[in-house]
Amino acid sequence: MDSKNIQQIKQRYSIVGNYEGLNRAIDIAIQVAPTELSVLIVGESGVGKEVLPRVIHDNSSRKHNKYFAINCGSLPEGTIDSELFGHKRGAFTGAVDDREGYFGVANNGTLFLDEVGELPLATQARLLRVLETGEYIRVGESEVRKTNVRIIAATNVNMQKAIREGKFREDLYYRLNTIPIQIPPLRERGRDIELLFRKFALEISEKYRFEPIRLNDEARILLLKYKWPGNIRQLRNLTEQMSIISREREITAEMLREYGVTDDSLGQTGLIVSGKGHEQQSAEQHSYEKERDMLFHLLATINKEVKELKDFVHSNMSSMQDVKRDDIRVINDHPIQTEIPTHFVPSGYQPHQSYYPQGPDIEVIDAQTVEETPLTNHDVLKKHIIDSLQRNKGNRKKTSAELGISVRTLYRKIKEYGLEE
Ligand SMILES: Nc1ncnc2c1ncn2[C@@H]1O[C@H](COP(=O)(O)OP(=O)(O)OP(=O)(O)O)[C@@H](O)[C@H]1O
Ligand SMILES: [Mg+2]
Repeated sequence: MDSKNIQQIKQRYSIVGNYEGLNRAIDIAIQVAPTELSVLIVGESGVGKEVLPRVIHDNSSRKHNKYFAINCGSLPEGTIDSELFGHKRGAFTGAVDDREGYFGVANNGTLFLDEVGELPLATQARLLRVLETGEYIRVGESEVRKTNVRIIAATNVNMQKAIREGKFREDLYYRLNTIPIQIPPLRERGRDIELLFRKFALEISEKYRFEPIRLNDEARILLLKYKWPGNIRQLRNLTEQMSIISREREITAEMLREYGVTDDSLGQTGLIVSGKGHEQQSAEQHSYEKERDMLFHLLATINKEVKELKDFVHSNMSSMQDVKRDDIRVINDHPIQTEIPTHFVPSGYQPHQSYYPQGPDIEVIDAQTVEETPLTNHDVLKKHIIDSLQRNKGNRKKTSAELGISVRTLYRKIKEYGLEE
């Protein structure tokens, strides 16, 4: 094994891990790259199959030519042949123009056929032909065309089973599988689990500018014991979720258990198992995953904005001699107006209203408001106190609780601002 080369590849493609099985997979990719051989990358969902085809292409003599990654599982059965092999104008309803197809446009380049196990049998027959002879026919045409495309395929499907069940052609399987590359599941990778956790924790903390989460000893052991049915994708999602949602920066085993990480199960992971690429995955799961990603993005954005708002308030309030830190909570404990993507806005939401349906309807200080009405910090606080007193019908206990300041401070402020009556 050429370990220097392997390290360079890892750096260039941000591949993390030192597990021998991973190194072996990268080593085979480097060795096979300069050849014309077909490669089949196999491994469970989420193990990291998608990076190797790129490594192979970039290290081959085709590197200056086209590279296409096609997810065979996401192409509708009705159009898959036309997508791959092209069609003639008028070949079917909707075929208003000639279409070249991937095998035509990728001539002299590389095609990565991801989730190849999902190809319909008719398409498998066309693919076999092009692999064996370099020839293909566009849909609706009889003219035979030539192409010179290198094929790299990947699958998380048990191909032997698919062949037994008549879902995948055995001859095509052997043709694709000239060089097999096996990517090991995460549960076998030992210390790499922690390295990956750190990478993902750091990445998200840099993106949203907060302190990265870290593991305590118990949590580290639990991550090693867990079976990781969704592999690295699951670990990445879990790390991102915990980074954003958890208030604590030190992650304990107990906290991990709350997220479904257990010592003995294969997948009671609820939220965090990302189903992408699973054989039985439904369209609903796809959109659920997308929504969840957007939700975390939104949460992270809100966190970031709250932090910025806090900084803003702190810097503006620092001139106030006698306002204690406690008083600042009036801002922190109340709804923050932020740009909320329209698909997350609950029905009935009105701009400039509290985002939380039951939350107190307190006007939020933001940079814009301050610019438009040049209030002093005393004015701002006074206004909050007046509004809150009105809402609570003069009840000082409720007002102080709502504002997050002590009753004593509230009395002092009421007196100071002349709000006694
Ligand atoms: N060794 C690694 N270092 C860093 N990130 C990795 C590593 N392996 C995988 N990842 C990340 O994990 C995620 C899942 O990887 P990938 O999409 O390649 O999975 P896959 O094997 O193609 O799964 P599926 O069969 O479900 O499509 C990606 O975000 C990828 O960047
Ligand atoms: Mg994939």
